[in-house]
Amino acid sequence: MDKPIRAAITGLGATVPEKVLTNADLEKIIDTSDEWITTRTGIRERRIVSDGESTLDLAVQASRNALDDAGITDPSELDLIICHTVTPEIPFPATACLIQKALGSSGTAAFDISAACSGFIYALTIGQKFIETGTCRKVLVVAADTLSRFTDYTDRSSCILFGDGAGAVVLEASERSDRGVMYTVLHADGNGWDFIHVPAGGSRTPASRETVDNHGHFIKMRGRDVYKFAVAKMQWLLGDCMEKCNLTPDDVDLVVPHQVNIRIIESAAKKYDFPMEKVYVNIDRFGNTSGASIPLAMEEARRNGKIGPGSTILVIAFGAGLTWAGAVIKM
Ligand code: ACO
Repeated sequence: MDKPIRAAITGLGATVPEKVLTNADLEKIIDTSDEWITTRTGIRERRIVSDGESTLDLAVQASRNALDDAGITDPSELDLIICHTVTPEIPFPATACLIQKALGSSGTAAFDISAACSGFIYALTIGQKFIETGTCRKVLVVAADTLSRFTDYTDRSSCILFGDGAGAVVLEASERSDRGVMYTVLHADGNGWDFIHVPAGGSRTPASRETVDNHGHFIKMRGRDVYKFAVAKMQWLLGDCMEKCNLTPDDVDLVVPHQVNIRIIESAAKKYDFPMEKVYVNIDRFGNTSGASIPLAMEEARRNGKIGPGSTILVIAFGAGLTWAGAVIKM
């Protein structure tokens, strides 16, 4: 019998914009303080795009970094490009098609998915299935968001959270049983669609002078409700991933959670007695970068020697939708 095919991560890349937005910068435009933001969220600064920069620029850079890392010099070897974004380059066509054009891999299938902060794990799962079913051999999974473009910098309860960034992985078919995406779990509850949403700019409420005047194109968030839901789901995900893969915290080299809020991350870790040294946190420097946050953190963790070939990592995320998702990966 043929050996089962696994989706191995053979390339990892990430990028953030140059421009830094610190808590001190925010103090100048809204009624807040560095102390409030740091204690409530763990965020000290974030990176945001400058005029003329966009989701696509970040997505393409992260993709190139991941392809280089995988040693792929000819992007037309890719069978599929999946891009998660809730902040696309333009409403349509898909940002994935624009990435494909920029990479020069004409002919490669390309589409977008949208699952907010859970988007990387959703896209990873789709890529994994395309590979495990034998449909594709090489898949590029990109998560790129520029939440700053949809952030209302007059709303102090949400604007402190968000930053921009992109991360990407190359998945390749592998017959090795000890490497790859070992387990994924995806969930959603549309009843909470309005916990975090952008009300205008879609077919229900197209752009108009009124939608602009009412800040309808910016993120609206019910922070406290999101917080409660996120704590419950992040804890649940950690437990589910360990149980389904028969893991204890000792077996896990690193948990890479969506960088949502340090208090939410710590509550999940505490529930399962995970020492914080085994939990990767870079929210202090990047804030919440939506779908990009997990591959961004994975790339940094690898650069810092926290993970490498053979590491077992557990990734968990929660986001708008509401969506939540987890995965166990053997690097
Ligand atoms: N600076 C100072 N004070 C503030 C600020 C601020 N930036 N924002 C709110 N406050 C005030 C409030 O007005 C409130 O004052 P009041 O008590 O006089 O009414 C007080 O601080 C407490 O407000 P809460 O909303 O209860 O503060 P909380 O501890 O819940 O922290 C926060 C707010 C940080 C937003 C938290 O609820 C949170 O992190 N929620 C999760 C949000 C999230 O992660 N969203 C992204 C999801 S991912 C995605 O899909 C994009």
